[in-house]
Amino acid sequence: MSKDPADTSSISFTALYTGHVWYANGMSAPAFHNAGGSMLYHALMPFEFIGKQIAGGNIKTFLLQRHLIIDALVEKAIQEDGVEQILEIACGMSPRGTRFCSRFPQLTYIEGDLPGMAARKHRLLTEQKEITEKHQVVPLNIFAQDSDDALETVMARAFDTSKPVLVITEGLVNYFSLETIDGFWKRLQAALSHYPQGIYLLDNYPLFDNHPLHKTMRVLGGMLGTISRSQVSFHFGSDHAAKSHFESFGFKNTTVHNPANYYQQLAIPRSRGNPFVRVVEARVK
Ligand SMILES: C[S@@+](CC[C@H](N)C(=O)[O-])C[C@H]1O[C@@H](n2cnc3c(N)ncnc32)[C@H](O)[C@@H]1O
Repeated sequence: MSKDPADTSSISFTALYTGHVWYANGMSAPAFHNAGGSMLYHALMPFEFIGKQIAGGNIKTFLLQRHLIIDALVEKAIQEDGVEQILEIACGMSPRGTRFCSRFPQLTYIEGDLPGMAARKHRLLTEQKEITEKHQVVPLNIFAQDSDDALETVMARAFDTSKPVLVITEGLVNYFSLETIDGFWKRLQAALSHYPQGIYLLDNYPLFDNHPLHKTMRVLGGMLGTISRSQVSFHFGSDHAAKSHFESFGFKNTTVHNPANYYQQLAIPRSRGNPFVRVVEARVK
């Protein structure tokens, strides 16, 4: 870990890899192609193949499952809850903001990330003429408080408190211990409670006690933690534990989405057994 616990920029390179997965699977425009991500993507291909043989699913399987389920839930929130204000934290090279802003011009869509990654994304979107008053990329550190890049400041600056808000974190929470990320979740719940509806969507990797790959997941988590210099952790031993955890601090209405329940509805890859990833939809009201 870096000396300043709020400096978690050692994690940022992982966004190049996921950014390339979105690009390689036709979810973003050629401008999102980046050499670093492409190199990582190709370097991991042999592991992808082995993962598929042994575990019945590889990294791409759960990345695509989580990304497409989050997309479906965002679309539903726009159409059914009238959401027009979205904050995508730890946006990295995700093309979601671009895709949703072109489909739903009524959106105010704020993308936030650590300063280096936010500047990189800002440059990319500026080149594409995607930056408008309603679609911005700003520095946001989930551990910052009382500063320009703090969650509360970013939300107060961008959003109208008379309308619902939806916040996304994708590929973020498992880089931190539960104790560390809990502090952020509690602040997020408090911030969302100022709006008529606050919806939080996140992906999470649980560690089910009876999962046949329990040990393998721990080893892989340890390796990712070492290279990203973070405390990679698996949160919750069951979907019920995840739901109770969020409900215990004010996300009164929490649903844990299992990709297996979406195989018929969405064009997502299938896992051989119990999928590794879940998408949590935590609502304040
Ligand atoms: C695995 S990437 C995910 C990127 C993107 N959400 C995606 O799914 O493609 C993790 C992202 O978290 C960002 N990040 C790391 N620490 C952060 C923090 N303290 N606050 C906000 N973002 C952070 C990194 O810069 C990086 O963009």
